[in-house]
Amino acid sequence: MKVAVVGTGYVGLVTGVVLAHLGNDVVCVDKDPAKVEKLRNGIPPIYEPGIEEMLKKTIEDGFFQITDSISDAVETAEVVFIAVGTPPGPDGTPDLTAVRAVAKGIGQSIRKPTVVVNKSTVPVGSGELVEKLIIEAGADPALVNVVSNPEFLREGSAIHDTLNPDRIVIGAKNQAAAQKLVELYSTLNATTVITDLESAELIKYASNSFLALKISFINAVSRICELSGGNVEDVAKGMGLDKRIGSQFLQAGLGWGGSCFPKDVLGTVTVAESLGYDFALLKEVIAINDDQTLNFVRRLDARLGGLAGKRIGIMGLAFKPNTDDIRDAKSLIIIEEILKAGGSVTAHDPIATELVRAIFPTVDYRESIYEVSHEADALVMVTEWNEYRHLDLQRLAKAMKTPILFDGRRCYKK
Ligand code: UGA
Repeated sequence: MKVAVVGTGYVGLVTGVVLAHLGNDVVCVDKDPAKVEKLRNGIPPIYEPGIEEMLKKTIEDGFFQITDSISDAVETAEVVFIAVGTPPGPDGTPDLTAVRAVAKGIGQSIRKPTVVVNKSTVPVGSGELVEKLIIEAGADPALVNVVSNPEFLREGSAIHDTLNPDRIVIGAKNQAAAQKLVELYSTLNATTVITDLESAELIKYASNSFLALKISFINAVSRICELSGGNVEDVAKGMGLDKRIGSQFLQAGLGWGGSCFPKDVLGTVTVAESLGYDFALLKEVIAINDDQTLNFVRRLDARLGGLAGKRIGIMGLAFKPNTDDIRDAKSLIIIEEILKAGGSVTAHDPIATELVRAIFPTVDYRESIYEVSHEADALVMVTEWNEYRHLDLQRLAKAMKTPILFDGRRCYKK
């Protein structure tokens, strides 16, 4: 099938490359000339395991192309994906500027029946808005079908998740448009939920909010464990074995960050508010998450008898392993708190160092955890990179001023 994907971030690029890998003719579009140039040479502008190999192969086989022109891509495509960012605005409401601009560009270019698929995470009602904008931009309404097809991939395992989805959700106004996507995904062996536009949009927000709620719940339980002497890992295990609860996303620790949960939970709260519903439960989910990180710093402070003049080594900067994404990463809050309290920071991350350096230029970035540990008053595990699970702890202890490791991700047995 001829497919266009507008936006080459984590979602757009992975979608485009995987659809090309499945044998579709894919043209990806990005307005950033630097990204286009990189992609043309087979270099992904993001870090994601496996993407580079798959990109190079699909370019070589002639299934993947890149352009900066929406009209070139849209004119030939049967299905056009919108996969641009929807960052939170000042009050937390998702900012649809990029989605609006792309809808306009698509509307100016449609010349034949086209299914426009919204993959960006958008508030309920956005499908209708996109259709309206496309038609206002000049497209013949008879040629346009807008479909919602939310994305459930996780950064760090995005290719695997896209090829092996738990479910595919398609929200459409008519059966023919939905069937076009069913056909596109027919080689993936996944349960498909076909519903209306609004429900599909809500499934995405509700899913991310529910997962974040699960993590905040176990983190709240971890606080009772701290106070009572219970072990949250055993509690999570005992809970998770109940199939109605399930064991995933019950890993207590520093809390959730990243480019999706913080934005989508807040987005759900603000969208609910705009519809006249006070989603107080989700506000508390956010509050628990925020306090979880600050409580961690308070405990570090208490253990060290104050942070002023102390040297703290940070293990991991990305918001989670296997990604270079630092959006809403816990490392940023922890570094800020330590610096504010008069401490100094050394830090290591396998790939995200440069992005954090731009925010905290005074931090001392090192090539390995062994270097970070040198003369440190404490080490703090923030991102559970696999390589941090097999460190020589004796060697670290020897290098440190005091051998204290605060494990924010429960990688080590106490
Ligand atoms: C999340 C969802 O899991 C995807 O299904 C969704 O497609 C994506 O958002 C999106 O909306 O695009 P992602 O943000 O890539 O994916 O990362 P997750 O693996 O879900 O982790 C999110 C955060 O929760 C991380 O900060 C992680 O450290 C934290 N987490 C996760 C925990 O603290 N405990 C857990 O048990 C699991």
